[in-house]
Amino acid sequence: MKLGLIGHPVGHSMSPWIHGKLFEQQGLNGTYQLYDVKPEEFEAFIPKLKEEGLDGFNLTVPHKERILPFLDGLDESAEALGAVNTVKRTDKGWIGYNTDGTGFVHSMKNRYPKKINTATRVLLLGAGGAARGIFHAFLTEGVATIDVSNRTVSRAQAIVETGNPKVQSKALSLDDVQSSLGEYDVIVQTTTVGMSPEDEEVIIPLENLTKDTIVSDIVYRPMETLFLKKAKRQGANVHYGHEMLLQQAVYAFQIWTGTNPSALEILDEFEAKLKGV
Ligand code: ATR
Repeated sequence: MKLGLIGHPVGHSMSPWIHGKLFEQQGLNGTYQLYDVKPEEFEAFIPKLKEEGLDGFNLTVPHKERILPFLDGLDESAEALGAVNTVKRTDKGWIGYNTDGTGFVHSMKNRYPKKINTATRVLLLGAGGAARGIFHAFLTEGVATIDVSNRTVSRAQAIVETGNPKVQSKALSLDDVQSSLGEYDVIVQTTTVGMSPEDEEVIIPLENLTKDTIVSDIVYRPMETLFLKKAKRQGANVHYGHEMLLQQAVYAFQIWTGTNPSALEILDEFEAKLKGV
């Protein structure tokens, strides 16, 4: 099986390692190649991709939307998000999927199986592409509340408007949300704030955080961000960005191969690998 990743830059990607492990785990032969394609090269690259005969590929920044006109079909989440991170070659052509948000929610449920249910109140910090994917996945999950707080409130409002009447949702500024952190069961930091080398930054102070809230950060370099360190000090439960990364890769692998690989089985090795990079 021939797989790959198209992005720019892609040099530091962990995906070849993850998919190599999954091929091994499932006893399959396959390759996972990196394609560093600049935005201006993307259109000319697509016919080359068809010639290479890939069975499937991932897309990362900045190509997740750019691929849409070249696809023959979309799954429900890719359609709702207007962004694709996984493509599978089928006899109906190239079909696009989005595994980012579902990977996130699934990895959180792996760690905290009972905490995501119809009473769960979720807060997302940030309103970019990552927040949009996670918002949609929690919406599909059917939680009670998903509020979105962002530096630019109008972008948070734009995500809230993609919701449905069954799930309560409002947009908040980063200042306004600070006093009400205790109202949430799950808080997810979806921006790049705190990413190495700016690892001394936190998006908001966490003084009003209450014990037992699950706090998650999608940043995985460093593995434990200052935001998560502070959350732990307040007695919160934490969930790490690399768990999402691994789970969304497992979902893509599942789509391509029809197998049911285990993320947990390679989690320890993945953590060791990330620490060594
Ligand atoms: P992505 O698609 O990767 O999520 P994006 O669309 O560029 O990236 O969104 C980045 C998010 O990080 C936005 O929510 C952005 O806030 P704005 O919408 O106000 O720009 C947020 N962000 C980036 N730097 C930030 C900072 N220093 N403080 C607070 N929020 C920040």
